[in-house]
Amino acid sequence: ELDEAKTQFLSITSHELRTPITPIKTQLQLLLRGFYGDLNERQIKSLRMIERNTDRLNRLLGDLLEISRIQSGRLKLNITKQNLKEVIEETVDFMRPSADEKKISIETRLDDVPDIEIDRDRIIQVLQNLISNAIKFTPSGGRVDISLKKYGDGAIISVKDTGVGMSREIREKVFEPFFQADDWKSRKIGGTGLGLTICKGIIEAHGGRIWCESEPGKGSVFHIILPPKPGREIKLSQDEEIRERIKTFFEERS
Ligand SMILES: Nc1ncnc2c1ncn2[C@@H]1O[C@H](COP(=O)(O)OP(=O)(O)OP(=O)(O)O)[C@@H](O)[C@H]1O
Ligand SMILES: [Mg+2]
Repeated sequence: ELDEAKTQFLSITSHELRTPITPIKTQLQLLLRGFYGDLNERQIKSLRMIERNTDRLNRLLGDLLEISRIQSGRLKLNITKQNLKEVIEETVDFMRPSADEKKISIETRLDDVPDIEIDRDRIIQVLQNLISNAIKFTPSGGRVDISLKKYGDGAIISVKDTGVGMSREIREKVFEPFFQADDWKSRKIGGTGLGLTICKGIIEAHGGRIWCESEPGKGSVFHIILPPKPGREIKLSQDEEIRERIKTFFEERS
């Protein structure tokens, strides 16, 4: 009950706090376009700073709203049949400039997999966060590898980087709201620690799974498994079933 009150509070406040942002942005645009007269360099610089921070606030409130939807089970998916390979390629094209800027290469190995039913925009949102994390936590000169493979009648997507990696302690908490590794890196780099919480909510709403493997200094890899359609259990072939059992056997022992 307390949880429900909390979720409702979160939902109402983030919504209410978001409303005044629209007129703020409109006025900013008018000022910046010289609608109220010419501006000098310092005024423009100041307005740009207000604009950047307004956008940040808007993003943060959007994330909070999304989390409250996830927690209350009100996340509505807009499901359509999609070619995952195309969805990933489009997302990678969109992210490439920020990787180029940091001299990080993005390589893809995308198999042809049967179309599956997903909320396209939300899966793109998940991929964007995973790829932006991979870029953010990888030093210049590193690389990000994205793969897509068949997994039973569903699919498995992996985003691998050569970055800073994570200790077991960190790894266990990355999907919790507001969690960020407590070193100077994440703080200097920014963000709010809501990205992976939202990713997990979206993937689980699809009936899928998301998890990561990582070691400090050895990079990280995030895996996503998606069923052929939300809520449908994945049917594995006999080979895959055996491989899966062997993997679980070793994982339980490590
Ligand atoms: N690829 C990665 N390599 C190393 N650490 C990572 C990686 N991805 C996530 N992390 C750790 O997990 C934390 C949480 O990630 P998450 O995406 O939820 O938040 P964020 O990127 O810090 O902020 P936001 O996504 O809300 O802008 C990060 O701050 C970082 O400490
Ligand atoms: Mg993130």
